[in-house]
Amino acid sequence: MSDFKTNPLPVYIAPVQGHTDAAWRHFHHSTYGGDFRYYTPFIRCEHGELRRQDLRDLLSPLNDGIDLEPQVIFRDMTELDILLSRLKSEGMTRVNLNMGCPFPLQMGKGRGAGFLSNLDEASKLPDTLAKYPELSYSVKMRIGHDDNTEWRKIIEILNSLPLSEIAVHPRIGKQQYSGELDLEMLAELMKVSRHKIIYNGELKTPADMERVTADWPDAAGLMVARGILGRPSLASEYSEGEEWSPEKRKAAMMDFHDKLLTHYEETLCGDSQILSKIKPFWEYAEAEIGRKTWKAIKKSSTLAKYRTAINN
Ligand SMILES: Cc1cc2nc3c(=O)[nH]c(=O)nc-3n(C[C@H](O)[C@H](O)[C@H](O)COP(=O)(O)O)c2cc1C
Repeated sequence: MSDFKTNPLPVYIAPVQGHTDAAWRHFHHSTYGGDFRYYTPFIRCEHGELRRQDLRDLLSPLNDGIDLEPQVIFRDMTELDILLSRLKSEGMTRVNLNMGCPFPLQMGKGRGAGFLSNLDEASKLPDTLAKYPELSYSVKMRIGHDDNTEWRKIIEILNSLPLSEIAVHPRIGKQQYSGELDLEMLAELMKVSRHKIIYNGELKTPADMERVTADWPDAAGLMVARGILGRPSLASEYSEGEEWSPEKRKAAMMDFHDKLLTHYEETLCGDSQILSKIKPFWEYAEAEIGRKTWKAIKKSSTLAKYRTAINN
């Protein structure tokens, strides 16, 4: 265990579809505490209105007491307008705009990272956002869809918007979630942006976070996604300036996953429904729990086998 030498930056807990839902956020916060901002996984339009399932997650009482920013995904101003208008009427005050999703189904339709090259629509953002002065905005983006210079055009538009910050994952959409981070482009983007930039990508350990804090003095914060799913104490360890012992991490992780299991046992019916909900929470935890345990969790076909896998 070593003490860190840098002052920690604010930590943002990234949206991860299928993982960081209201229950995950709630029990993560109640287990680990801390002053971290959470995001909802992207909220979308369906049949001309905000998708019901997304609204349920956003309005869940499980979000009480959490610093939560809803994120929206859209392909044009019609969709964005529907989403913003509904979020405003639900009393939201902040919205994160998704310009980074690489899922082919979304990106192919011009949403997420697919929006980055749609400058015609992007140029209408100032007017659309101005319709909702009650809302404050941030962006989460990649550097391009299939070209790592795409950001250079849209950044001019983003510079004209009133944004609190931009979280950047320095990959292009086509890379999905692997391959080199394009740090050269990130450095250039940071220089050109008039907004605060949050660094997002491959932060798996407190040491990774400390290294980026030291190497990127202009970064205004760090955003963690798969890293915190696999090691839920990650943000706390970094913010406290000290790695937790394996025993402490394990005890907290068991407590966290136990709360999630109890919650889903109370709200869902039958082993297979519950298992399909809770198994993905372990998906990125192999480095923390070992390959054998992860494989046993993945294979478990009943809750009894799941419990045995975890307790072993
Ligand atoms: C399964 C999965 C689902 C994701 N869902 C979202 C999402 O809903 N909204 C979003 O902006 N990013 C989403 N992301 C991207 C993450 O927020 C993050 O930008 C990306 O994983 C890189 O950060 P990391 O290296 O810390 O994982 C998702 C990533 C994964 C792996």
